[in-house]
Amino acid sequence: MSKKAFIFDLDGVIVDTAKYHFLAWQKIASQLGIEFTPEHNEELKGVSRVRSLDIILALGNIEIGQEEKNKWLTQKNEDYLSYIEHMDETEILPGVVNILEFIKEKKQLIALGSASKNARPILEKVKILHLFDAIVDGNDVTNAKPDPEVFLRAAKLVKAKNANAIVFEDSVAGIQAANIANMISVGIGDANILHEAKYNFKDFTFMDTSFIEALMN
Ligand code: BG6
Ligand code: MG
Repeated sequence: MSKKAFIFDLDGVIVDTAKYHFLAWQKIASQLGIEFTPEHNEELKGVSRVRSLDIILALGNIEIGQEEKNKWLTQKNEDYLSYIEHMDETEILPGVVNILEFIKEKKQLIALGSASKNARPILEKVKILHLFDAIVDGNDVTNAKPDPEVFLRAAKLVKAKNANAIVFEDSVAGIQAANIANMISVGIGDANILHEAKYNFKDFTFMDTSFIEALMN
């Protein structure tokens, strides 16, 4: 039996950072006089920093030049980094480590497929970098989710076929990317929002290791 590649998104799947991205964007939206709700935020999940700003600007019907965009992008990341500065293992989402360790124990492959340029330092902060056989993040890809590039690269790095890859995602864009890549998509979060996923779990505490075992066969 060939090995399976389990590809994890980072923000909102492994760590509870989605709330910090939201806070940092909300601050910018309010400075721009744009109303930005948690519902709007769903559209930003899994999406690159640059694209996220464009979505927010479009919400407010605002057009600005590149220089001003760069200013907001810098502010966003500085605020975000200040929120995660003191991050530690306590911000790992419940049940994830158990699943990661089970996959490791079964000698299957683990990869990261994240849009974030801050992915590596975060994995270091929460002390689970060593569990990953491959990491593909926002520094490695040119096309943002729902483009499948990030997951295709991850599968390639661990030498797994796309059909042997399983993607865990909390974003609509990420689930779409996994589906486009012909991978098995697993939604982590609200099943109504992530209804395009093949499987859905509210969070990893609802996922039994038997689910992983079944995917291996
Ligand atoms: C994704 C998040 O993982 O990474 C998005 O879901 C975020 O909210 C994107 O915008 C880019 O992250 P960063 O850390 O490079 O700004
Ligand atoms: Mg995410």
